[in-house]
Amino acid sequence: MSEKKAQLRIDGIDDPIDLPVYEGTTGPDVVDVSSLVGHGVFTYDPGFMSTAACDSDITFIDGGKGILLYRGYPIEQLAVKSNFLEVCYLLLHGELPSATETKSFENSIRYHTMVDEHIHQFFRGFPRNAHPMAMLCAVVGGLSAFYHDTLDIDDSEQRISAAHRIIAKLPTLAAMCYKHGVGQPFMYPQNDMGFAENFLHMMFGTPCEPPKVSPIAAKAMDTIFLLHADHEQNASTSTVRLAGSTGSNPYACIASGIAALWGPAHGGANESVLKMLGEIGDESRIDEFILRAKDKDDPFRLMGFGHRVYKNFDPRAKVMREICDEVLDELGAEDDPLFRMARKLEKIALEDEYFIEKKLYPNVDFYSGIVLKAIGIPTSMFTVIFATGRVPGWISHWNEMLSHPYRIGRPRQLYKGHTQRDYPA
Ligand code: SDX
Repeated sequence: MSEKKAQLRIDGIDDPIDLPVYEGTTGPDVVDVSSLVGHGVFTYDPGFMSTAACDSDITFIDGGKGILLYRGYPIEQLAVKSNFLEVCYLLLHGELPSATETKSFENSIRYHTMVDEHIHQFFRGFPRNAHPMAMLCAVVGGLSAFYHDTLDIDDSEQRISAAHRIIAKLPTLAAMCYKHGVGQPFMYPQNDMGFAENFLHMMFGTPCEPPKVSPIAAKAMDTIFLLHADHEQNASTSTVRLAGSTGSNPYACIASGIAALWGPAHGGANESVLKMLGEIGDESRIDEFILRAKDKDDPFRLMGFGHRVYKNFDPRAKVMREICDEVLDELGAEDDPLFRMARKLEKIALEDEYFIEKKLYPNVDFYSGIVLKAIGIPTSMFTVIFATGRVPGWISHWNEMLSHPYRIGRPRQLYKGHTQRDYPA
């Protein structure tokens, strides 16, 4: 680590406190404040606006410039030249796979896609109208019951094997969540299909007819998974890391990430964007909703807009908008009213002083829902798709943390409650 230093002066503490400053390969430096507890003070940063919780080699975001790199490769290039499984390998192992490594990784994923037949029973307990994310949380956590005892998280090979299992089984479980809701039989994965094609087959195929998946939809689905694969220390990834720091098994850690992703401020936003577009209903009402989004007294926010890190276009939103154009055009739905309204809403918001001043741009969720709807995915499944795409990121961060010395994550607080008092006699 570098020799850069910071000095902190605190009223009531005589001497200034020297704090080491570390430089990354790129991006902001960090001030190591871990010694402050020894001086009887904590840092205070609700929402972790200015806090680096770890160091990582996996993903880099420059929010000001709208840059997103997976292991150094720009997301725009990966979206065009790579595919989801190759990106899974890249995130997990740090380099693009050779032809041999690709074949071995694809085979490993392929032969882990099936789930234990007992898991089919889990779904029988859910009401037909259970939200798919509620089911996904439960069944992914339930994988612990099948693999928890056969996993030594301190063994790097067993960690990678667990990572392959989780990446492989998520689409199967995701499709089962959908099938349960529509009352159709679960479909088994087909070993001769690609990852995204297999997912769409398990979603929309039935035992009554031979498999048929649109190559356009499969390609769009694969790119959507790829765009969601990782995003640095976002809320759900930080949740996975915190759960992992206690030594929990990876299935329980991924289930905690799914739970965190579900919120409308995070991965649930894509579902909320479609609901918002439906609520707006007509282009003539866009201005009314823009006003509401700017009204401090109105809890309404423009879903799919704004980001904690990006103060410029989310590069994924740009790719997603291109996919929207292509898919709607190829499916003959280029005049899709939702897409037309989204484009109009984006244009108006980007020209509005409030959004410009607060640097609120479309994020990954703004267009993803429109593409997913165009390929037949129901709104309630949008966040399940996000989770399926994000699994390689979650499990790569989990593995990265366990590959180095780590400590249990245990933040402190600014206490503002009662000082000690005695129980009434
Ligand atoms: C994802 O972290 C990640 O990397 C997440 C993610 C990933 O890949 O993992 O990128 C995925 O979660 C994308 C974000 C999806 N969420 C939404 O689209 C929901 C709508 N967006 C907002 O809720 C909000 O922008 C957040 C939650 C995304 C960011 O919230 P912050 O960083 O805490 O910012 P903030 O709420 O403090 O907002 C700053 C200001 C506020 O106004 P002031 O109090 O300063 O006057 O901007 C306003 C906010 O009111 N604002 C919005 C707004 N987003 C922020 N006003 C209207 N509409 C919005 N969408």
